[in-house]
Amino acid sequence: MKVCMIGTGYVGLVSGTCFAEIGHDVICVDNDKNKIDVLRKGGIPIYEPGLEELVGKNVKAGRLSFTTDTRAGVDKSLFVFIAVGTPPKDNGEPDLSSIEQVATEIGAAMRDYKVIVEKSTVPVQTGTWVRTVVERFSRHSKDFDVASNPEFLREGSAIDDFLHPDRVVLGVESKKAEQQLLELYKPIDAPKIVTDIASAELIKHASNSFLSNKISFINALSIICEKSGADIQKVAEGMGLDKRIGRAFLNAGAGFGGFCFPKDLKAFIGIAAKLGYDFRLLKEVENINEEQMLRVVKKTGDLLWNLRDKKIGILGLAFKPNTDDMRFAPSITIIEALRKEGAIVKAYDPVATERAKLVMPDIEYCSSPYDVAKDVDAIVLVTEWDEFRQLDFHKIRDAMRQPVFVDGRNVFERDKMAELGFIYAGIGR
Ligand code: UGA
Repeated sequence: MKVCMIGTGYVGLVSGTCFAEIGHDVICVDNDKNKIDVLRKGGIPIYEPGLEELVGKNVKAGRLSFTTDTRAGVDKSLFVFIAVGTPPKDNGEPDLSSIEQVATEIGAAMRDYKVIVEKSTVPVQTGTWVRTVVERFSRHSKDFDVASNPEFLREGSAIDDFLHPDRVVLGVESKKAEQQLLELYKPIDAPKIVTDIASAELIKHASNSFLSNKISFINALSIICEKSGADIQKVAEGMGLDKRIGRAFLNAGAGFGGFCFPKDLKAFIGIAAKLGYDFRLLKEVENINEEQMLRVVKKTGDLLWNLRDKKIGILGLAFKPNTDDMRFAPSITIIEALRKEGAIVKAYDPVATERAKLVMPDIEYCSSPYDVAKDVDAIVLVTEWDEFRQLDFHKIRDAMRQPVFVDGRNVFERDKMAELGFIYAGIGR
């Protein structure tokens, strides 16, 4: 089937490439000429394991191409996916102007029936606006359906998430659109849930908020564990074995970040407010998350007595492993707070250093964890990269000025670290 994917950011590029991988003909459109040039030359503008190879494979097979020409993309396709950014405005509301712009362009370009699908994360009821705008700007044809097909991709495992999802959500307004979308997704072996458009839009915000909720719950519980002598890992294991709860997203740590959870949470609180509901539960999820990042700083301070002029080494800067994404990374909040207390910070990340330099230009960046350890008073592990599990901890400890280790992701065992001579603190144990 013929697919036009408008927007070659994270969601658009992964989704477009995966649609090609399952056999469809995909044209990816972006108004950023540089991006399209890079993609045409076989490069990819983001870091995602396996994506470059998959793009190359599908371009070679003739199923995937890139253009800046929206009209051409729309003209040749049955499905037109909108996968442009909806970044937060200063007040936390998503900026939907790119969605509007794309909707006007689709309207102007359409000559025959299209299924116009929202892929970007949007507030509930956006579909109604998309329909209105497309209709207002349509010149040659008014034959179209709007649909919502939210994405649930995680950075770092996006390809697998697309090809083997837990579910595919299809919000439609007609039987025709439903049938076309079910056909499009036929090669994907997963439960498909068909809903109205508003429900599909809500499923996305509700899912991300619920997962954030789970994380803040376990983080709040980690405080109770610390105060009562319980172990959060065991508590999470015991809770998670209950199928109604599940073990996933019950890892206590230095807080959640990334471009999705913090932004979607804020947006959803705003959407609820606009609809007349004060979603206090989600406000508290946000507060707990903010406090959780700062608790890592407090722990470090407590183990060092004073933070002023102390050298602190940070392991991991990206908001989670297997990505170079620094957006809303907990490391930023933690490093800012450490520096505010007068600490001197050096840091290492396997892939995010260049991006981190753009956000935090004036800290020292190291080329290995061993460089980070050199002469520091404490190490704070913020992102649980696999690489950190294999370190030579004798070497690390010997390089440090004081052997204080704050494990913000509970990667290591307290007893083992103590045996190695570290003064160790985890989260909630
Ligand atoms: C998240 C969702 O998991 C995806 O389903 C969704 O499609 C995506 O947002 C989106 O809306 O685009 P992502 O932001 O890539 O995906 O990252 P996650 O793996 O969900 O992790 C988010 C944050 O939560 C990270 O900072 C991670 O360290 C933290 N986290 C996760 C915890 O602190 N504890 C956990 O148990 C799990």
